[in-house]
Amino acid sequence: MCGIVGAVSKRNIVSILVQGLQRLEYRGYDSCGVAVHAASLGSATGGLQRARSTARVSELIEQVAADKVEGGTGIAHTRWATHGAPAVHNAHPHFSHGPAKTQKESEGRVALVHNGIIENHDELRATLQAKGYVFVSQTDTEVIAHLVDSLYAGDLLKAMQAALPQLHGAYALAVFHKDEPHRVVGARAGSPLILGVGQSHEENFLASDAMALAGVTNQIVYLEEGDVVDLQLGKYAVYDRSTKAVTREVKTVNAHSGAAELGPYRHYMQKEIFEQPRAIADTLEGVEGITSELFGKNAEQTFKNIDRVLILACGTSYYSGCVAQYWIEAIAKIPCHVEIASEYRYRESVADPRTLVVTITQSGETADTLAALRHAQSLGLKHTLTICNVATSAMVRECALAYVTRAGAEIGVASTKAFTTQLAALFLLTLALAKVKGHLTSAEESSHIKAMRHLPAALQAVLALEPQLIAWAQEFATKENALFLGRGTHYPIALEGALKLKEITYIHAEAYAAGELKHGPLALVTSAMPVVTVAPNDALLEKLKSNMQEVRARGGELFVLADADTRIENSEGVHVIRMPEHYGVLSPILHVVPLQLLAYHTACARGTDVDKPRNLAKSVTVE
Ligand code: M6R
Repeated sequence: MCGIVGAVSKRNIVSILVQGLQRLEYRGYDSCGVAVHAASLGSATGGLQRARSTARVSELIEQVAADKVEGGTGIAHTRWATHGAPAVHNAHPHFSHGPAKTQKESEGRVALVHNGIIENHDELRATLQAKGYVFVSQTDTEVIAHLVDSLYAGDLLKAMQAALPQLHGAYALAVFHKDEPHRVVGARAGSPLILGVGQSHEENFLASDAMALAGVTNQIVYLEEGDVVDLQLGKYAVYDRSTKAVTREVKTVNAHSGAAELGPYRHYMQKEIFEQPRAIADTLEGVEGITSELFGKNAEQTFKNIDRVLILACGTSYYSGCVAQYWIEAIAKIPCHVEIASEYRYRESVADPRTLVVTITQSGETADTLAALRHAQSLGLKHTLTICNVATSAMVRECALAYVTRAGAEIGVASTKAFTTQLAALFLLTLALAKVKGHLTSAEESSHIKAMRHLPAALQAVLALEPQLIAWAQEFATKENALFLGRGTHYPIALEGALKLKEITYIHAEAYAAGELKHGPLALVTSAMPVVTVAPNDALLEKLKSNMQEVRARGGELFVLADADTRIENSEGVHVIRMPEHYGVLSPILHVVPLQLLAYHTACARGTDVDKPRNLAKSVTVE
C-alpha cells in the first residue's frame, strides 16, 4: 500500500504533490509527508526541506503553506504502516544524512519514499550501522535511503542501480539527492509506479496511480517490473532490470481525480451504496445478449478449451467469487473452486491446464491477487480472465481476458458498489460459460437478461429500506458481537455482511452457513447476541427456519432480512425487514444491500471514521 508522488519541474510543485497525495489516501492514511529540494527553483541556497504529519493530507496542506515549503523537485508519500508505528519519525520521506552524526534537516543528502516491504532490512541495517549510519525510525525504508547514500558517487541513477539488487522484497521508490537538484529517480518491483510525462514547465512526474496526476498530465507510462526511471527537466529515461535503456509506450489515460463530490451524502460509503443502481446499469450497458465476446476477442475459444474454473481473490472480492461458485456449478455445470489468493500463491496445488483462472479485484492492484495470478501462470495455467473495476490496472494488463465493471471510483475503504457490480459481471460470465457448454436455452437466456435489466429498479426498492435499517443500527451500535447466518448463495452474503460490520464499526462479527450453527457457534448464542439472518425464499428456506428456531430456543435475538413470501413474521425476539420482492437467482445482489446499510448506520451511530476505518487501506499493494 502507501502512495507515492514525485516531480521535477521548473515551477513550484508542492501543491501538485500534496493534491496528488490526497487522491492516493485510499492506499493508506497512517501518516503523510512531502520533501522538496529548496534550491530546485533557482535559489542558490537551501538543501532539503520536509513536512510530515500523522494527521490527514488536508492538514499537511496547511502545514506546507505555513512552513513555506516550496520547490520544483520533490517527492511525497501517504503511508500504511508496516514496519514501525504510525508516528512522525516513521513517516516518509526518509532522509539520509550520510554516516556523519548530524541530524539537521537541511543537511539531509538523500530523500526517499517507498511503497512495499524490504524483507532483508535487518541485515542491511546492521551493515549500514557498522559504516556509521544512524537510524532514527523503525522503518525498512530508512535502510534504503542510507543504502543509496552509501553508494552515491555523483550520479543518483547509478547509486540506485547499485542499490536495487541488494533489496529483497517489493518496492516502488522515488528518491532525490541534494547534489542533483533537478533529478528524481524511481524504481518498481512488485509495487505499482507510473511515469507522467509533463505538458509544460519541462516537468515530469512519478505516481503510484495515474489518478494522482489527474488534471496535471494524461500522458502515462506504466513502468514494468524491474524498471528504473530517471526524471529530469524536459526529459526522462527508462531502464530495465539489466540497466538497459528501454522505450515504454506512452498512453493517454483520462483518469478521474476521484475527488467526487459527496452531494447530499455524509460519507463516500453511503454515496457508493446509493450509486449501486447506476453502477449495475453501467456495468450491464450494451449487453443485449449473452456472448463470450463480452470478455475479450478470444474468449469463446478459451471457454471451449476449459473444463474447470479457479477463482482467486481477497476480501470482499473473494466473497463475490464464493457466490459465483454456486452459480457456475449450478448453471454452467462446470466444476469451480474459489480460493483466497494469499493461500493459493503459497500452497502446492495440482494445476490442470484446462482451467480458466478468474481473478476478481476492484483495484486490479492487490498484491496477493496479482501474485496468485502470476503463480497460476507459472504453473502453466494460461487461460486467465479478470473481473476488475480499473481498466488500466496491472491485473487487466496481465490477464488474457477481462470484464471491466463500471462501478466508478470507489473511495470508501469498505467495498460496496464494486461488490455488486462484480456479482453482475460474474453472473454474465456464468451465462457465457453455460452457453458455450450448451447449458443455456434461448428461453433461459432471455429470462436471465430480463432479470438483470430489472436489477437497478429492484436495487432502488431495496435502498428504500434505509429507515428500517437505521432503526436496527441504533440497537447494533450498543453491541460488541454479532452473528450472521445464510445458506447457499446467501452464505457468502452473510460473510460479506459480517465483514462490512467489523470493518467499519469494529464490532466483532462472524458469519456461518446456517447449517453449521449446531456444530459449535451455537455455544455463543445468548440474549446478548444479535443474529442477522439472510432469508430469501429459496429451496433452503425451511431448513433455514429450523436454524432460526435453534437460535430462538437459546434466547438469541434474530434480525431477519426476509423475502416477501417467506411467511417469517415479527414476533418476540424476531425483527423482520421484508425485502420488496423475490429476486430468484440474482437475490444475493439485492440481499447484500441492507447489510451494507446496517453496517454503515451502525458505524455512524458509533462515530467511527466510516470512509477510513482504523488500520486499513483501500488498496492492499503489500502482502
Ligand atoms: O481491490 P481488491 O478487490 O482486490 O481488494 C480486495 C480486498 O482488499 C477488499 O475487498 C477489502 O476486503 C475491502 N476493504 C472490504 O470492504
